[in-house]
Amino acid sequence: MKRTLFLIAVAIIPALGLGVTLGGCPKKNDKARDPGSKHDAGKLAVATDAAGPAEPLMLTPALPVPPIPAGLPALPENPSITPEAVALGELLFFDTRLSTANTMACATCHDPAAGFAGGTRQDTASGKPNLRRAPALVNLAWHKALGWDGRYASLAEHLAAHARGQLGDDLASAVSRIGDLAGYRAHFARIGGEPSGDLAMTALAAYVSTRYAGGSPWDRLERSPDVPADVRAGYQVFSGKAQCSVCHTPPLYTDLQYHRLGLIATADEGRGRVEPAQKGAFKTPTLRGATARTGFFHDASATSLDAAIDWHLAGGTGQGADPSIVDPVLKKIVLTPKERADLGAFVRALSDPSSPPVVKPALP
Ligand code: HEC
Ligand code: HEC
Repeated sequence: MKRTLFLIAVAIIPALGLGVTLGGCPKKNDKARDPGSKHDAGKLAVATDAAGPAEPLMLTPALPVPPIPAGLPALPENPSITPEAVALGELLFFDTRLSTANTMACATCHDPAAGFAGGTRQDTASGKPNLRRAPALVNLAWHKALGWDGRYASLAEHLAAHARGQLGDDLASAVSRIGDLAGYRAHFARIGGEPSGDLAMTALAAYVSTRYAGGSPWDRLERSPDVPADVRAGYQVFSGKAQCSVCHTPPLYTDLQYHRLGLIATADEGRGRVEPAQKGAFKTPTLRGATARTGFFHDASATSLDAAIDWHLAGGTGQGADPSIVDPVLKKIVLTPKERADLGAFVRALSDPSSPPVVKPALP
């Protein structure tokens, strides 16, 4: 696709000011002080206007909002999800300057190469241990509640607390460290204002809620005669004998409810924080995109997809949990080796192996 540069007159940036008003970490800011550097080529350019006192910034036009891939349900229009908000959200998601010590970005824990999930229970930016691993940030647009325990009712509510807890700073002060950079000013202006915590939140929410996992081989083949025999047989096991679809319900492959699998290696009340009767229950993760993940379950106690599947088949009592606290739907299920292999083939057919790798954007 041919991309045409177009000119956006943003906040007037005095030619001299560009070099001296940038706060924060001087080393990192060098990139923005030198908009002609190789690093920023194509992403950000300053128009040469020798006569005028101001140099308006040119940003490349934002890419269209990602379409919803095949297999996922339609969504109502969300006016705060615009191409420009997603573009800014992408930059913020990868920017370590959002954390106090400049060490950690959203992408550090929600690794894009691992389906925007974490493989371990990674410490926070301020070095505090995390009780849970970072869940996959895919298909969140359908979620009614955020967190493994669903204790937040909206992304806005969640991200405000989350940035403080994980990155060590609230979004407003994080933005104050980068908001003077010319590139960021232009991006914020494009979504309607001065750099602020609220706009950063809108942008991050737009970015994370448009990360989709869909368009899998199963979505393409489900109704076709070309579906491989093991995948078709695996679907029968998944929705029949193994009962997986009771909780990992198509088409999202999660019921967005909370269940107890008997994972008790860490002391974590889970959904019990919200509803005491649901102590030890966690939100069902989607199985879409699961092949990219490197750790499984809220406590990262399973290190492979097959180990996670086998935990369920064993009835969830492997860690010595009292069977009475395990969800009654989760029973010990004995599969033949062929049924087990077919089940694995089906679960793997819910991930799209052709989705292109996520490339870290050049930051302002
Ligand atoms: C230090 C690791 C870490 C960092 C950094 C981090 N997260 Fe998270 N994230 C987590 C963990 C752990 C959870 C699960 C929290 C819970 O269940 O209480 C989570 C949960 C989430 C969720 C909820 C997903 C769901 O399925 O309900 C969203 C959305 C999210 N993070 C977005 C972000 C964004 C955006 C950033 C950057 C501003 C970020 N995270 C930075 C570890 C991290
Ligand atoms: C009773 C509801 C229920 C049933 C039935 C069920 N699951 Fe789960 N599954 C969950 C919940 C809840 C989690 C997350 C548990 C946690 O982290 O504490 C989960 C997690 C997983 C994970 C790990 C995903 C991740 O990102 O951490 C996989 C893989 C999985 N299930 C596959 C299956 C398969 C295959 C079956 C059928 C054999 C199945 N599940 C049956 C509720 C269920």
